[in-house]
Amino acid sequence: MPRRFTGGKLVVASHNAGKVREIRDLLAPFNAEVVSAGELGLPEPEETGLTFIANAELKALSASLGANVIALADDSGLAVDGLNGAPGIYSARWAGPTKDFNLAMKKIENALGQNPDRNAQFICALSLAWPDGHCDTFEGKVAGKLTFPPRGSEGFGYDPIFIPEGFDITFGEMDPAKKHEMSHRANAFRQLVAACFS
Ligand code: IMP
Repeated sequence: MPRRFTGGKLVVASHNAGKVREIRDLLAPFNAEVVSAGELGLPEPEETGLTFIANAELKALSASLGANVIALADDSGLAVDGLNGAPGIYSARWAGPTKDFNLAMKKIENALGQNPDRNAQFICALSLAWPDGHCDTFEGKVAGKLTFPPRGSEGFGYDPIFIPEGFDITFGEMDPAKKHEMSHRANAFRQLVAACFS
């Protein structure tokens, strides 16, 4: 049974300012006083989970137990069918220490080689954790196909090689507002809000 958030302080368990801003905006209607893990000086736990859900829960619980407040964390990435789900939870790590996504996209192209299966999904797990160890987690997905070379300069990460189902443009070519309506993150957020914030 999901537990409901009724207002007060909520830590976003991320050190990424863009993510914190996006979550603050999304939670504006729900009486949440949003602070980031960075603002509270909380350490970033190592992402040792083997699934998006495990990593989202690990990050949310670590922040919640560390700060003794309710915490929200996400974990996301691109899963390519022809690569047995890689890069998956290692999506950020495939870009290397310099976070070079041109390199990461090239790695995917090379790994696929002549494989005709170009199907892929973006996946996002969102977890809301409480200081007593309770947590509720929701997973959102968006299916599509990969295209090479990368197209478009909107978005971030792997957006320029991902064409969502029903479209013929990549997320990198799509109006960001449109992407935010239909993304894996939007889908997970809708589930979270319906279960825990409304
Ligand atoms: P996280 O911040 O550790 O969850 O890493 C997520 C990684 O997955 C990002 O660095 C991106 O490479 C990739 N990713 C997740 N969501 C998206 C998206 O909406 N567009 C493009 N890449 C994404």
